[in-house]
Amino acid sequence: MFSRIVVRVQRTAFADIQKRFKYTLPDVPYATTGISNFLSQNSVSEHLKLHKLDVERANNLIQRTPWENTTINQAIVQSSTSREDAPFFEAASSHFNHSFFWRSITDVKQTPSVYMKKAVEIDFGSFKDFQIKFSQNASALNVPGFTWLVFHDKALKIVNTFGNGSPLELRNCHPILCLDLFEHSYISDYQSNKNVNINIILL
Ligand SMILES: [Fe+2]
Repeated sequence: MFSRIVVRVQRTAFADIQKRFKYTLPDVPYATTGISNFLSQNSVSEHLKLHKLDVERANNLIQRTPWENTTINQAIVQSSTSREDAPFFEAASSHFNHSFFWRSITDVKQTPSVYMKKAVEIDFGSFKDFQIKFSQNASALNVPGFTWLVFHDKALKIVNTFGNGSPLELRNCHPILCLDLFEHSYISDYQSNKNVNINIILL
């Protein structure tokens, strides 16, 4: 019995190291279907191909760096300030942002928890006010980037990141959800109409 547990612990530890060393595409449950009335299957599939390239790039560039055995969060924060690390930062941060984006959208209707609803009311006034503010921030982003709901300095906030920039560059920032506003995320479904994308996700 004891040896079985030891083997299990060792396997778990090894899996954890492997996971940290090699970035992988997350499981996207709607990859083969798309999301009805929001993103087509083709759009999701083309987008995932771009994400896969970032994963491959990050895995190539991480070799023989100090971040081989760190979490992706640490790797992003620590590689965000040096010019030599920029190619790795771009790839790792894009991988992080996209993994977050895939988790932020769903084809299953969901409602916020009681706690999240309360927190939104405290920091934005109402859920409707949060939707309006999120939409305004996303619309105002006139370069490629992401709009985020984050927990930062003891409050929920909406922030924009530019290009492959990361909300983790803000100290003690905990991302909650994000919207990809690169043209590649909506062009095949909505052409250049970014606002349709924004309004649909907030329904
Ligand atoms: Fe994207």
